[in-house]
Amino acid sequence: MIPHNKPTLGKQEELAAKRIIQSGWLAEGTEVEKFEHNFCDFIGISHGHAVAVSSGTSALYLALWVLNAKKKKVAFPSYVCASLRYAVNMAQAKEEIIDIEKGYPNISINELNKSDCSIAIVPHIYGNPVELDKIKNKLIIEDCCQSIGAKFNGKHVGLIGEIGIFSFFATKLMTSGGQGGMIVSKNKSLIDEIRDYRKFDMRNDKKMRFNFQMTDLQASIGIEQLKKLPGFLNRREEIFNFYLNAGLPIQTNKKVSNSNPIRYRAILISENPKELIKKLYDNRIKAIVPIEDWELLSPTKNAINYCKKTISLPLYPSLTDEEVNYIIKTIQ
Ligand SMILES: Cc1ncc(COP(=O)(O)O)c(C=O)c1O
Repeated sequence: MIPHNKPTLGKQEELAAKRIIQSGWLAEGTEVEKFEHNFCDFIGISHGHAVAVSSGTSALYLALWVLNAKKKKVAFPSYVCASLRYAVNMAQAKEEIIDIEKGYPNISINELNKSDCSIAIVPHIYGNPVELDKIKNKLIIEDCCQSIGAKFNGKHVGLIGEIGIFSFFATKLMTSGGQGGMIVSKNKSLIDEIRDYRKFDMRNDKKMRFNFQMTDLQASIGIEQLKKLPGFLNRREEIFNFYLNAGLPIQTNKKVSNSNPIRYRAILISENPKELIKKLYDNRIKAIVPIEDWELLSPTKNAINYCKKTISLPLYPSLTDEEVNYIIKTIQ
């Protein structure tokens, strides 16, 4: 069976993890610090502007916490994973759910601009940057869990809004050993506050904190994956273009000027997704409906229609040319 997704790991990750295990220091330490520095280098900001945490969800919670979201209205799209809702509720904020654009997975900026929310969580879904410069009068948390490396107006996503958050879950664009997250901001004082929150143990100031730490073992794998990320993104682009050039109805980036998307998913538009998914499965290919209508955070009109027409094809760096050709031939 060709899986729908899988992490791409090799000898380098294995050796890095072995080195940490042999060192006798597994918990958060110098390796996490190095990962944070390297991440800053990758997205193009000075050291000190990134803090590593245990997951994308904890990154979201901490972003809301540091922006004092408690009791405030926080908007986010209906078409996204449930972790946004969990983080908003953990932060004791009030949720407001916004529809996506017609026929496109990103949040509707028109609808968002009608909202009087103080904070908006804006995910760049499937690697497609949202036109952040059109969003008015709100603090923006950029959710870059599916878009590391994408750019808008020449800048890496994550650095345009107030805060950017990233996920290193096993099947994301890169992983830090199965789970992990990163928070970045141009505003270093926000990052310093989160770093202080993360250092929960041995404090005598009675402030409330929580253990959202990443371990050195995870960071050592993250460091190796980050080195490989440019190659991963190129390979993803190549596979995406194989599908596209074969004439498959793959959704490309909506014409967002000055945007450089990356390819987290290859979304095929079909009038009958379930039937095609079944036929692919019978031919040992796993494709999925990326978000089913029952998973939507609210049954908004455009999101329901979008769910009914989308199939996500296998797309990951270790997918071979032979496998891609076989997938294309089977669909054709
Ligand atoms: C857009 C988006 N936001 C947030 C998350 C949460 O990240 P994590 O699974 O690392 O908690 C995910 C992934 O699951 C995601 O796809």
